[in-house]
Amino acid sequence: MIKVRGLRKNFGPKVAVAGVSFEVKKGEVLGFLGPNGAGKSTTMRMVTGYIPPTDGTVTIDGKDIASDEIAAKSKIGYLPEAAPLYEDMTVEGFLHFCAEMRGVAASEIDEAVDKAIKTCFLEKVRQQSVDTLSKGFRHRTCLAQAIIHDPEVLILDEPTDGLDPNQKHEVRSLIKRMGKEKAIIFSTHILEEVEAVCSRAIIIDRGKVIADGTPDELKAKSSNAGSVTLKASGLEGKTIRKELEKLSEVKNVETIDSDGDSIHCKISAAKGKTDKLSGAVFRLCKEKALNVAELSSDPGRLDELFREITKSDRED
Ligand SMILES: Nc1ncnc2c1ncn2[C@@H]1O[C@H](COP(=O)(O)OP(=O)(O)OP(=O)(O)O)[C@@H](O)[C@H]1O
Ligand SMILES: [Mg+2]
Repeated sequence: MIKVRGLRKNFGPKVAVAGVSFEVKKGEVLGFLGPNGAGKSTTMRMVTGYIPPTDGTVTIDGKDIASDEIAAKSKIGYLPEAAPLYEDMTVEGFLHFCAEMRGVAASEIDEAVDKAIKTCFLEKVRQQSVDTLSKGFRHRTCLAQAIIHDPEVLILDEPTDGLDPNQKHEVRSLIKRMGKEKAIIFSTHILEEVEAVCSRAIIIDRGKVIADGTPDELKAKSSNAGSVTLKASGLEGKTIRKELEKLSEVKNVETIDSDGDSIHCKISAAKGKTDKLSGAVFRLCKEKALNVAELSSDPGRLDELFREITKSDRED
């Protein structure tokens, strides 16, 4: 549904996006992660045709955003980072106007507005003037305009930014639900959101894609992934530790707690042995007839991977 090839954007000498390629199919929700200034919003602006790329192509359902602009844009709903709103309109009036602009048939406009108001929980402020809305309600009004024409493609730039925890939860559920029938890209700084909502995520840093995969695949790339936590008793803690250290699958044993005949420790895998580690620890426990209270393998963490592979501005 969305095909992006070699997208670049230079602002004068500044390279904001340095050759980004990816695809999003119908039924997929792609998460965009990356530090501030990484190029997420700039990429999204180019995908929606809001700004032209310096180089590269974007097609939406086979329609080129540059040469077949109207056909491509009609398929997109876009929630920009700082959305312009018509301040003196009511929420309902504004959405009515957006529905008209987006080509919703006159006979279907009222229904489309009602649906968007309901979906984005705007009933309470329906008749309120846009300039008097609180931040969260403004944001939800912007989200409502993005979905008013029931587009096949949704590009949402930080859709849960500024929402209260209940609304964050609602908007995540909404994105997940809509993601079953649409192709969605959304950016966020909330990494749990990626795990809760996305079928795939890419991490962008300094205008380049530096990681691409399902949330589980990305987590598995973090350095802690595959380490094993063990709580066992039956032998002296330091004896258990020594036995563990003898295993060829073990790189390091970090004791969290050890008293008398028990140990609670974190075991990291030797290079290339990650998938063998928990089996080896399990066999050792069995062989030494230890009582095992916990034996678990760490799936890894997205925030860890994020910190490990992205560079903060201070490192420039
Ligand atoms: N119109 C512009 N003119 C000049 N530089 C720009 C312009 N728009 C963006 N940039 C620069 O391009 C880079 C990428 O910005 P972008 O807004 O895409 O980042 P982002 O990943 O969305 O960051 P954030 O997480 O803070 O929203 C930044 O260095 C930014 O200053
Ligand atoms: Mg941004």
